[in-house]
Amino acid sequence: MAVAQPNNRSRRCCCCLFNIIWKLLIAIIILVVLIILIIWLIVQPRAFKFSVKEAKLTQFNYLNNNNTLRYNLVLNFTARNPNKKLNIYYDKVEGHVSYDGTRFASTDVITWLNSFRQYTKSTNSMNGVFSGKRVVVFDQNMGSDFERDKKDGIFRIDVKLYFTIRFRLGDFIGGYTKGNIKCGLDVPFGSNGTKVFNVFEPTTCDVTF
Ligand SMILES: *[C@@H]1O[C@H](CO)[C@@H](O)[C@H](O)[C@H]1NC(C)=O
Ligand SMILES: *[C@@H]1O[C@H](CO)[C@@H](O)[C@H](O)[C@H]1NC(C)=O
Ligand SMILES: *[C@@H]1O[C@H](CO)[C@@H](O)[C@H](O)[C@H]1NC(C)=O
Repeated sequence: MAVAQPNNRSRRCCCCLFNIIWKLLIAIIILVVLIILIIWLIVQPRAFKFSVKEAKLTQFNYLNNNNTLRYNLVLNFTARNPNKKLNIYYDKVEGHVSYDGTRFASTDVITWLNSFRQYTKSTNSMNGVFSGKRVVVFDQNMGSDFERDKKDGIFRIDVKLYFTIRFRLGDFIGGYTKGNIKCGLDVPFGSNGTKVFNVFEPTTCDVTF
């Protein structure tokens, strides 16, 4: 009994120390969660809004004999920062366009040369020029879709942009954040005013982080 007594006491003390650490840990976790929640509520971070304001397709010819697509597509985008507290740095935006599920052109929209800082509640524009010729093998029903779109004077073109941005809160700049933007466009062909009925409708895109 006499030998077991101190041993027992030290075990109890060890136990109560463990208890204190445990309670302290829980208190710290609750505090951190609370702080994050409060900052989140104050900052109310929101994704930027992205849309295609203008689309000009002045060339879109597909030659069946050698599978060559000639294209000239100019897209004007706008990005809006709806945040009240956060600035956004657009570090990199890379655009890809596809027709009938086949990607036919890519271009750099934002690189380190034209990257910029977007202030709160503001809108900026960026452009993508897709021009050239390329051998592309579209799938089987491509021929009929192409003929249909050509007859309608409207080509259904999908745009996908990959972006790298950073958020800025006061003097604090966050880490690089990546995501993508998807837009499904109905682009009138030869929108030089030759076809009065087909006017490009500004299209809102989906932004995913
Ligand atoms: C494909 O054929 C057309 C004429 O049929 C020609 O003008 C064009 O240069 C050819 N393209 C390539 C990549 O060979
Ligand atoms: C659209 O983008 C093109 C190509 O960069 C540019 O020349 C043109 O001025 C832009 N149009 C508008 C309305 O911003
Ligand atoms: C559109 O206008 C430009 C310059 O005004 C011209 O070079 C081009 O051929 C026109 N495209 C069409 C399809 O009319």
